[in-house]
Amino acid sequence: MCGIVAYIGPRDAYPILISGLRRLEYRGYDSAGVCLLSEDLNIYKCKGKVSDLEEYVVGKNLSGNVGMAHTRWATHGEPNYINAHPHFSQNKTLAIIHNGIIENYAVLRSELINRGYKFASETDTEVLVHLIEDIISNENVAVEEAVRIALNQVIGAYAIVIIAREFPDKIIAARKGSPMVIGVGEGEFFVASDATPIVEYTNNVVYLNDEEIAIIERDHDLRIKTIRNQSQTPYIQKLELSLSEIEKGGFDHFMLKEIYEQPRSIYDSMRGRIHVAEGIVSLGGIKDYEQKIINAKRIIITACGTSWHAGLVGEYLIEDLARIPVEVEYSSEFRYRNPVLYEDDVVLAISQSGETADTLAAIDLAKSKGATVLGICNVVGSSIARATHAGVYTHAGPEIGVASTKAFTAQVAVLTLIGLLLAQKKGTLPKSEFVKLLFELDAIPAKVERILKLNDKIKAIAHIYKDVKNSLYLGRGYNFPVALEGALKLKEISYIHAEGYPAAEMKHGPIALIDELMPVVFIATRRGIYDKVITNIEEVKARKGKIIAIITEGDESVKRLADHYIEIPDSEEMLIPLLATVPLQMLSYHIAVMRNCNVDQPRNLAKSVTVE
Ligand code: F6R
Repeated sequence: MCGIVAYIGPRDAYPILISGLRRLEYRGYDSAGVCLLSEDLNIYKCKGKVSDLEEYVVGKNLSGNVGMAHTRWATHGEPNYINAHPHFSQNKTLAIIHNGIIENYAVLRSELINRGYKFASETDTEVLVHLIEDIISNENVAVEEAVRIALNQVIGAYAIVIIAREFPDKIIAARKGSPMVIGVGEGEFFVASDATPIVEYTNNVVYLNDEEIAIIERDHDLRIKTIRNQSQTPYIQKLELSLSEIEKGGFDHFMLKEIYEQPRSIYDSMRGRIHVAEGIVSLGGIKDYEQKIINAKRIIITACGTSWHAGLVGEYLIEDLARIPVEVEYSSEFRYRNPVLYEDDVVLAISQSGETADTLAAIDLAKSKGATVLGICNVVGSSIARATHAGVYTHAGPEIGVASTKAFTAQVAVLTLIGLLLAQKKGTLPKSEFVKLLFELDAIPAKVERILKLNDKIKAIAHIYKDVKNSLYLGRGYNFPVALEGALKLKEISYIHAEGYPAAEMKHGPIALIDELMPVVFIATRRGIYDKVITNIEEVKARKGKIIAIITEGDESVKRLADHYIEIPDSEEMLIPLLATVPLQMLSYHIAVMRNCNVDQPRNLAKSVTVE
């Protein structure tokens, strides 16, 4: 939520900031702004997207080689010019950008109002910049010390950058609970919410830790201290990210590019971990915790949204393969509902971004109760990757489209490996079955490749249904989470109401919705309780619902029943989610494009939900 970028060095700051904002726009896109320091602090901001800001600044003074910029996802205060960042302090000598939420802003705001401060916006952020100004003038301290004192009074989450007119060779950055990475170049520094704005300039980065303040001075080394005033040695890491990974590469949208990347991202998530010839699975990241998981009375999977759907597949997989009880919890519920947790519980947190606030809070809760917490994250060095005891990365590569696609299949691939690893260690599967599963898993990327060739057929189906108002997605067993994920993809990018349901639950309520206008997407592959799904299809057909079926190649029975069908290659039942999800992503994508929706940046959404 919200993207921040800042620069100090010898170059013109504006082009660096604006291209950085474009890369960060997935994090929020309701308003944008930039601050440049030349003679004075110049702030330009507007409602809308980064492209609106670019139009707005035409003809303005964009000089300065110190600056910062922000793309917003509103929390406090509606998205408009006034609430857009950066915000000035009262005397206009300081400017701030902020990602996060200051929870005690109301108290701080009324104290500052009593001391004569006037607020221009409704944001929680403005409180912070006035507070820093107040401390500088009352306590006569340097800006970094004022920031430190102010942050000790703040409750909440923040990643902030401050620029002070009186200190043109310095920017101050700090974080708690919201991500921040500092790029260290030759005589120049970059600050951003993630590494994407930085990668084209340097691959030396420092990930700021919670409650750390960075004092970044032109022609000086980077200094870091905590809000308790302890100096820290900056730990410079090498970025493993290339520019081509974060560009569209000829596709119309990031979402489409990411759908097409799945053969590679699934393969990369398994590479070096699945050894088909030897018949073994190894996961270095959790090696030291294998025994702990095997001995666990239960595994609790916690996640949000699409990652939660992957977690549901994980529940089926781990219980099937390793016979360890698994519960799947929405992080947002888990963190607040006083769950029973034991020291021999293993909690598995799943997150693409590694920054989701609710999942982070769920991890903190689990750790405070003594549970072992492992992570499945996509973003290397992210907060969740660092907050967990150990974990396994999905190697899906950067996911920029707001709707998650390749991260989901990579998560399911990793969960499959975890299930297989536990089965191997516990001996819960006959060797022949185990090896067969490895062979089938190894074949998945090529099968996804074949599904991608169905694009034209899927597009034709999308054309028929692009104007519907509602839709139902039904599946059973492993295909139930696939139904949930298919429905989420459609609703979030096309704004068509879509419900995912276990197919047999339909008759307990949703069947009342079915008439000749209702498309029902069945994930009806020929494995598991296939016959029962056929019965459910018949029930919909009898009520004149329109049936779109995802079927196993060559399945004539469902072909006869369905209005439209998409044939996918066969596999083991537990591997079908890795295949069946792909045509549903493509269907949603095409429908959204045909409805002129902004697929990469759906309304009201943001890629990483760093607020609760
Ligand atoms: C949907 C989607 C979201 C995320 C959710 C969790 O397409 O992307 O539902 O899955 O916000 O995000 P992460 O996985 O980053 O924790």
